[in-house]
Amino acid sequence: MSIRNKLLLFMLTLLAAVAAVLTLLFFYNERSAIASNNQRKNFQILLAMSEVCREIHDTPGKSSAYRYFKAFLKTPEIIKVSCSDRRGRTFMEDRYYNPYPHPFSNLFKTFPPPQTGVWETKNDNGVEILQASLKARSVKGGAITAHVDFSTQLISQEMDSSLRQTSARFFIILSLAFAAGCIGILIITRVVVKPIQLMAEAARMIGSGRLGHRIPAAGGDEMGMLASEFNEMADKLKELDEMKKDFVSSITHDLRSPVTGIELCADLIKELAEKHEYNKIPEQLFSINEHSQRLNRFIDSLLEISKIESGKTTLDIKAVNLEELSDRAVRALKPYAGQKGIKMELVVGQTISDTRGDPDRLYQVLANIIGNAVKFTNSGSVGVYITTAPGWQQIRVCDTGIGIPEHEIKNLFSKFYRINSDSRGYPSSRQGTGLGLFIAKFIIEQHGGRIEAKSSPGKGSEFTIFFPT
Ligand SMILES: Nc1ncnc2c1ncn2[C@@H]1O[C@H](COP(=O)(O)OP(=O)(O)OP(=O)(O)O)[C@@H](O)[C@H]1O
Ligand SMILES: [Mg+2]
Repeated sequence: MSIRNKLLLFMLTLLAAVAAVLTLLFFYNERSAIASNNQRKNFQILLAMSEVCREIHDTPGKSSAYRYFKAFLKTPEIIKVSCSDRRGRTFMEDRYYNPYPHPFSNLFKTFPPPQTGVWETKNDNGVEILQASLKARSVKGGAITAHVDFSTQLISQEMDSSLRQTSARFFIILSLAFAAGCIGILIITRVVVKPIQLMAEAARMIGSGRLGHRIPAAGGDEMGMLASEFNEMADKLKELDEMKKDFVSSITHDLRSPVTGIELCADLIKELAEKHEYNKIPEQLFSINEHSQRLNRFIDSLLEISKIESGKTTLDIKAVNLEELSDRAVRALKPYAGQKGIKMELVVGQTISDTRGDPDRLYQVLANIIGNAVKFTNSGSVGVYITTAPGWQQIRVCDTGIGIPEHEIKNLFSKFYRINSDSRGYPSSRQGTGLGLFIAKFIIEQHGGRIEAKSSPGKGSEFTIFFPT
């Protein structure tokens, strides 16, 4: 069942329950209101009757009192009226006898009598009678009693028809309110469910690969917030998808270029061998060696990334000296810097004491950062400066190279991130895999340190490693 139908069913059930409770409340309230009105009315009749009896007793023959006496019988439910004196002798009586007994109403079979006077129910030839009598003191002296006989069946019928009339009005109003409620519920469920439907549609579109699909901007309520969260999530998915595409294309490129290089060298060796130019073969073998080393480095980096991502990297902690490690890295890169005509220097401010860390991993970090400085510098110098501060040892690698645009600095330490080289006048063939700084940052942070970069494009860059001691 759809969420809209469930909501509709729930709200309609709720509406029906409210209507049922209202009906019951109305019925019981109205029933007791009608019963107490009737009680009051009957008592007032008895009271008026006692007045008339007194009048007739005190001023016999007075015409108006007789007229009133007769008038009582015009009330349908009164079947007999009489007055008696203090000896119980009836001095006035009139009756109207309805020969057809009326059926009792189902709604009012019994009703409480008033507190004042004597109220008794009797059966008179199949007609149930409510006999009421009230004593009054006459002016002439002595007590008189007024008697009124009511037909209980007629009283109950009268009350019944009055309850039916108000109930009919109540049901008309309730039906109108119910219909309005149903329309309201239809509108509400539509308004509530619409954003959910839009979201389901968007999730389906994104699931089918249309990552550009977004939910139209909704209000500032929870649904609006959910829609904007969803859109943000879709943006991230799109970004990840683009990264994945870049990753696949960069991996393909990084794997293919050394393999193609090896293939070309092998073809060349074959040609040289056919032409018996054996003296040129070692040069090609040297190239093959370089290409395979590059391939190996790339595969190593990929393996390292997968280890980092699966949380399987461990450190082999022992005593290390950052000065010694930096010196090793500088010496290893000096021939490369020499080839490019770049001056390299290592400047150590104070005596650098031993600290604890994984020497191989830290060497890897320094080799990459100093290597980058040489790689991305065409002329000038590369300097490595080591200083200490309380709790820290600091290695600063400065170059006078091509520099890094300000907006790229935040991305430098991301996986596979390489700055578009064409815009910087730097041949893309000389770029690496874009994994070096990502791995370096991870290793430094694993040691509890941090790395920062700053640069002025065209003037040079500066990478600083803070290492805790
Ligand atoms: N000193 C620097 N001067 C200018 N650009 C730099 C410098 N260091 C890094 N970069 C830029 O940052 C990118 C990322 O460096 P990173 O060391 O992660 O990758 P890489 O050197 O290209 O490849 P890898 O180190 O994996 O062989 C580089 O491709 C380069 O564009
Ligand atoms: Mg590098």
